[in-house]
Amino acid sequence: MNEQVQEKNIYQPHLMEITKVIPETGDTKTFHIQFQDASLRESFSFLAGQFAEYSVFGEGEATFCISSSPTRMGRLEFSVKRVGRVTHALHQLNEGDPIGFRGPYGNHFPLDKLKGKNLLFIGGGIGLAPLRSLIHNVVDTRADYREITILYGARSPQDLCFRYDLESWGGNPTLTIVTTVDVGDNNWKGKVGLVPMVLEEIKPSSKETIAITCGPPIMIRYTLKSLEKLGFTPSQVWTTLEMKMKCGLGKCGRCNIGPLYVCKDGPVFSLEEIQRFVSDEF
Ligand SMILES: Cc1cc2nc3c(=O)[nH]c(=O)nc-3n(C[C@H](O)[C@H](O)[C@H](O)COP(=O)(O)OP(=O)(O)OC[C@H]3O[C@@H](n4cnc5c(N)ncnc54)[C@H](O)[C@@H]3O)c2cc1C
Ligand code: FES
Repeated sequence: MNEQVQEKNIYQPHLMEITKVIPETGDTKTFHIQFQDASLRESFSFLAGQFAEYSVFGEGEATFCISSSPTRMGRLEFSVKRVGRVTHALHQLNEGDPIGFRGPYGNHFPLDKLKGKNLLFIGGGIGLAPLRSLIHNVVDTRADYREITILYGARSPQDLCFRYDLESWGGNPTLTIVTTVDVGDNNWKGKVGLVPMVLEEIKPSSKETIAITCGPPIMIRYTLKSLEKLGFTPSQVWTTLEMKMKCGLGKCGRCNIGPLYVCKDGPVFSLEEIQRFVSDEF
């Protein structure tokens, strides 16, 4: 293939090298990666909420959000829960191994709408990954926002991802962080209960507040109901959707909900937008 044709191949991944692997839980790992091409390392940019297609050579491609922040560009990070073929293959990789990367794709969290507001982050399990990108971003530009509350839940203390972030956010006096697990153990000092229950218990004010949530579908479903009870309107609630994807570019038609392609029109949507297009699902 000549160079000109290669340049036009929108599916061709860039080569990246894994620089660190962090085991988060029994089934989730975080990977730090870096472009092999030094000029791409310098020129690459993205916004919190965007995702990419990552390939394991000989196995295939899968979609993951970029879980690091655009305000911390030394490397990219993504976190992977092992569920099937590609995620299993990714979990076998080590520092120094190459992977493919194409992106960034999709829209991003609406920073312009968040500025000057109270922010309420609600995450469950690996759903903290896309929120984490935005949380680091707003922490790094803290003066632009009012109160920031992070509610994060997992099945058990062993299932909490990003413990190093939870610790660092917990030590930041400008953040309120609440962690909860479905089932605790003797050492657990956080709350015990499902995320929506704890949300109703801590009763964040909906006044001048934007809620941003990501987690398992069942958590999202009940969290949305709890937010409504707390007085949040659909335009005050944002989420990021994870429909199964293939191209990531709005071409294959795999990821639609109603008339929207999640890969191109999303993955970040306000609840207001989602209800407008797919009222029966949310
Ligand atoms: C925009 C976006 C961002 C994502 N971010 C992350 C992330 O940060 N971390 C992470 O671990 N995962 C993320 N996912 C989900 C991830 O893409 C899938 O888990 C992955 O593609 C599974 O690949 P696999 O080959 O291992 O699984 P497969 O062998 O293809 O499938 C294994 C099982 O997982 C199911 N599955 C596959 N893809 C999805 C999906 N998108 N949603 C629900 N079920 C699925 C299959 O139906 C099957 O039951 C994201 C998905 C999208 C669309
Ligand atoms: S993944 Fe192909 S159109 Fe969205």
